[in-house]
Amino acid sequence: MRIKYYGHACFLLEGSKKVLIDPFISGNPLAPELTETPDLILVTHGHEDHVGDAAKIAEASGAKIVAIYELANMLPNAIGMNIGGSLSFGDVKIKMVNALHSSSFRNQYAGHAAGFIVEMDGLRVYHAGDTAFFEEMKNYACDVALLPIGDVFTMGIEDAIRAARLIKPRVVIPMHYDTFPIIKQDPTKLKVLEEEGIKVVILKPGEEFEAT
Ligand code: NI
Ligand code: MN
Repeated sequence: MRIKYYGHACFLLEGSKKVLIDPFISGNPLAPELTETPDLILVTHGHEDHVGDAAKIAEASGAKIVAIYELANMLPNAIGMNIGGSLSFGDVKIKMVNALHSSSFRNQYAGHAAGFIVEMDGLRVYHAGDTAFFEEMKNYACDVALLPIGDVFTMGIEDAIRAARLIKPRVVIPMHYDTFPIIKQDPTKLKVLEEEGIKVVILKPGEEFEAT
């Protein structure tokens, strides 16, 4: 599976399907242009830096949006689900998991914030969304964990390290930092995890990682 980073919390998981998560692209000057057509668009919560271009991309491509029920009701082409539930799209399984964060969309209540575990081609990728540290993450076994490190609105580096120690993924990729001055971080501080057998992959917007 190829994991391409579009900056902030946006990733494209490319395997048997193309799964785009939190497509904040046109509003993010650091994000490269989206050149792929996704099959699915997962949106973790209603904040603009996560919903981003989801509606526009869904309408142009016919891709389905997957989001929590209340937010799905406000987006086109959307399928609603809720925390703890799973949905399968062919061989791709999407589980919605908890996140400790708020959620609103255009000043309306947009349900709870969430994360996703995507199972595709024998690999499990956990996208934490925007979240604080919480111990239930220990149940989110995965090969690759996409964790926010920007602090202020989400976990900072220290809590992301604690989270990685609970989750024990093979690979951690940091996200949700440097987009704005207030969430500037040094992601190399995560490298302490490498002494514990967790590979840390730092991607710049536009870069990709081949997960095996
Ligand atoms: Ni948020
Ligand atoms: Mn955010």
